[in-house]
Amino acid sequence: MTDDSITLQLDGETITVPRSATLLDAANQAGINIPVICYHEATSPNGLCRICVVDVDGGRVLQPACVAECQADSKVETRNERVLRSRRTILEMLNASVNLEQAPEIQQMMADYDADEARFPGAHLREAEVIDDNPFYIRDYEQCVLCWRCVQVCAEDAQFTFALTLKNRGHATSVATAFDISMNESPCVFCGQCVGVCPTGALKPKIEWGMEQGWTADELRRNTRRARKRGGDGD
Ligand code: SF4
Ligand code: FES
Repeated sequence: MTDDSITLQLDGETITVPRSATLLDAANQAGINIPVICYHEATSPNGLCRICVVDVDGGRVLQPACVAECQADSKVETRNERVLRSRRTILEMLNASVNLEQAPEIQQMMADYDADEARFPGAHLREAEVIDDNPFYIRDYEQCVLCWRCVQVCAEDAQFTFALTLKNRGHATSVATAFDISMNESPCVFCGQCVGVCPTGALKPKIEWGMEQGWTADELRRNTRRARKRGGDGD
């Protein structure tokens, strides 16, 4: 072990990692799977969803593995009963508030953690109209898990365009453009990176969405072209 590395126990195995490694880095190094939702390797981790929690030294609060750094000589458990119950509850709460029909990775987690889809019978799914305001992609925030990935790639993590932000609070919180202007009026350059990092069906290429709606080839062609600036209709 060097000054730049530390040793800890992960699920009973001793492991040596770089000093600044997160618990998720350590788990990846050890071949241990920890589920993630808000974390993406292309974006800065913010520890928002808490699905990645692990138990460090039996501490009062579970630690989000994607942001918590490894501590020397600590004992980390990634799958004890506390951890499994916490992940299961997070999935059940997500399922009670968001339409996850087009989020296969999260659906798989629901199965893996034996999450009960009927755990919160009185809960209301978030409701939102599909926003179809540009030729390239649609936004369906009923399916948004507020992972923040799209906002980050649009900002400092990749594009430096800052077209996206948050609006409202609590159950009504939603990703939006500033002042809710249309995407065409926003600084968006339609790079598509937000669509690429979205883990659900909340952001989708318009061609794919149009095919799901049963659009004809002509409608697809017409609805996915940018209108010409001087009075053209894009055809
Ligand atoms: S639209 Fe997609 S990427 Fe953006 S916050 Fe919602 S789920 Fe995450
Ligand atoms: S993946 Fe770690 S908090 Fe979301």
